[in-house]
Amino acid sequence: MNKAPSISASRIKPYALSLSSCARALLKSQRPRCLWLTGLSGAGKSTLANALELQLNQLGLHTFVLDGDNLRAGLCRDLGMSAECRRENIRRMAQVSRLMVDAGLIVIVAAISPFRAERAAARQLFAGGDFIEVYVSTPFAICAQRDPKGLYLAARQGRIKDFTGVDSPYEAPLNAECEIDTQVLGMSDACQRLSGFLVKK
Ligand code: ADX
Repeated sequence: MNKAPSISASRIKPYALSLSSCARALLKSQRPRCLWLTGLSGAGKSTLANALELQLNQLGLHTFVLDGDNLRAGLCRDLGMSAECRRENIRRMAQVSRLMVDAGLIVIVAAISPFRAERAAARQLFAGGDFIEVYVSTPFAICAQRDPKGLYLAARQGRIKDFTGVDSPYEAPLNAECEIDTQVLGMSDACQRLSGFLVKK
């Protein structure tokens, strides 16, 4: 991975904007938060994020979905699937989601985000209660059976490397706020649970 040229952090002084995050959120009449969906490829994160966003939109809430596959087509297109690249990928997604929360949005992140340390670092960017980790815990066998993109097959055949759950690790959350196994819970129940969770919190 190419390292970006670094400017000494000590020479950067953030400009203190006059409009607060609270003022932006107030205009939207909502509490901005980051709902972070983590889980294996094929677990149902994107489908769930998409359905949930539609539901929240119908409730009049202002949202955005940051999907791993989508960001890898643009902002993160320079990143591969090595552990180092994934760490950078998650760092960028976390920073963007923080900016979007500051802008007043409810942000739904859907990314494998396989490492606990990077998810913990993402959580650290938010005020208490504003980061909700959702473990989409659909088991490996089911994800591999669904194999919507043919990637599990390609990984088994050695055509792609560093595939999560095959030859790259996935560290399941230990203290996620919410766990959803899409094999057990239907999509609309799962959405209901998450939107209820948002309202409750
Ligand atoms: S993460 O590990 O860095 O969080 P991210 O969620 O952005 O991953 O991207 C995962 C997506 O990339 C998967 O949904 C899949 O479509 C695609 N992909 C391509 N190669 C791999 C791989 N080796 N491991 C996992 N996903 C891969």
